[in-house]
Amino acid sequence: MANGDAKHEQLDGARADLSGTELTTQQGVRVDHTDDSLQAGDRGPTLLEDFHFREKVTHFDHERIPERVVHARGAGAYGHFQPYDSWLRDHTVARFLTDPSVSTPVFVRFSTVAGSRGSADTVRDVRGFATKFYTEQGNYDLVGNNMPVFFIQDGIKFPDFVHAVKPEPHNEMPQAASAHDTFWDFVSLQPETLHMVLWLMSDRALPRSYRMMQGFGVHTFRLVNAEGKGTFVKFHWKPVLGSHSLVWDECQKIAGADADFNRRDLWDAIEAGQHPEWELGVQLVDESDEFAFDFDLLDATKIIPEEQVPVRPVGKMVLDRNPENFFAETEQVAFHTANVVPGIDFTNDPLLQARNFSYLDTQLIRLGGPNFAQIPINRPVAEVNTNQRDGYGQQRIHRGQTSYTPNSLGGGCPAIADSEVFRHYQTRVDGEKIRRRSESFTDHYSQATLFWNSQSDWEKDHIVEAFRFELGKVGHQHVRERVLAELVHVDRDLAVAVAHGIGLEPPEGGTENHGRSSPALSLANSPGSAAT
Ligand code: HEM
Repeated sequence: MANGDAKHEQLDGARADLSGTELTTQQGVRVDHTDDSLQAGDRGPTLLEDFHFREKVTHFDHERIPERVVHARGAGAYGHFQPYDSWLRDHTVARFLTDPSVSTPVFVRFSTVAGSRGSADTVRDVRGFATKFYTEQGNYDLVGNNMPVFFIQDGIKFPDFVHAVKPEPHNEMPQAASAHDTFWDFVSLQPETLHMVLWLMSDRALPRSYRMMQGFGVHTFRLVNAEGKGTFVKFHWKPVLGSHSLVWDECQKIAGADADFNRRDLWDAIEAGQHPEWELGVQLVDESDEFAFDFDLLDATKIIPEEQVPVRPVGKMVLDRNPENFFAETEQVAFHTANVVPGIDFTNDPLLQARNFSYLDTQLIRLGGPNFAQIPINRPVAEVNTNQRDGYGQQRIHRGQTSYTPNSLGGGCPAIADSEVFRHYQTRVDGEKIRRRSESFTDHYSQATLFWNSQSDWEKDHIVEAFRFELGKVGHQHVRERVLAELVHVDRDLAVAVAHGIGLEPPEGGTENHGRSSPALSLANSPGSAAT
């Protein structure tokens, strides 16, 4: 069945249109006056017995919830996803990816990463691209970004990384993601960041519109078919409108003129019936080819070059409906990499493994306790039957005597082992328990160079200008120098061009430019052209 509207219909039960209704308290008692508090005498103190005053102010006092620790600023929209055909059935039992008659409702949230909820849209930053598929087999979340790699390889570094990226703790400056000492200090000491930093300095970090932005699942995930056979997979979203960026100067002006630029663009386009579309594609790697690459498939700082493994189209997503209440929907939506359905599973990517812990953990506090999956935006359209009970924010009245298994009294939810259930992918694991990064994760430069060499002349110029601007704001000279000493391993011409722009001597050594031409050199003799 096409269940494209199942989520819309489910939300009917939660919608509240209060226009024209009469004011009441939370208890449903009608109130005739809400402009003055109850006072003793004409100019006397407010009385404690004024329950309407206390309820009104107390609720207001508690209106805010913590913003997300990262990706705090976002914009969301509803839509649906439908596969073109069933070819992926050889690799996965996930019906929403393989049955072309099934239209699955989705909610997508786009976001910036570093800024606070009220920050500007057009900053230089990574963009989040998180999709919740409300499938018949349960919720599946593809929690991706608009860049195909990440800054770090192991999630244990995530708190360090985010502390370095966020505004500095002593003065909470700057709001910008990258133009400050702590970010570049971290980059210079953690060369695994370099590939992603190249993407961040490119125009990819300045999307013209959320509608014109690619999305990537980043990690290597695993598809699992009916025989229990696994296939490695990378997920790609490709915008039908093509990928387009702003240029830096436009970003600066737009941030002042309309801080909601990307958010407004998405909203207006949907209101105007110009529904943005993305094609979902996959790169598939047979398990027998796990070690066929000169990088590790479990390393999230690496792409699988499309020349080696092409992206194959799976289906299309259309976003066609704006939320009705920002807080209820866009703010309270809770994405989680561990929300998977039968046919999709994890790999041992240590970044992914950390994420699988972190999202649920943070949402327990952000959304007030263990029942946030019952918040309307998060509720699956699939049936939910658990033996979990009680807790803050419980919305259901569970009937019956039992909430445990096994039980002989009836009631409760037994676990049934049929072919439709989620079964973790079975694989053999052995090895020494050890806290150490795998040797196969140590090449931090080749793909950064690959990215640099893939850029056209003017794109290279933009990257050089971005480095000059960002590093130009770094106060500690030794940090600037260390970044240059890393860049030289990516490409000597790049390092030289950046050095000239920030008034430093180019570092010694480094790789020859194996790119086509070296347009960045055109900037090499204009010191300070972009640094301010
Ligand atoms: C939020 C993507 C790595 C922890 C988000 C969001 C996205 C995202 C898109 C926003 C979700 C939303 O719109 O609500 C990614 C990607 C990563 C990555 C693509 C790397 C490939 C990590 C890691 C951790 C982490 C390594 C922790 C170890 C978080 C947390 C949130 C978040 C705590 C806030 C969630 C919430 O409050 O609901 N991430 N992230 N992320 N991410 Fe990640």
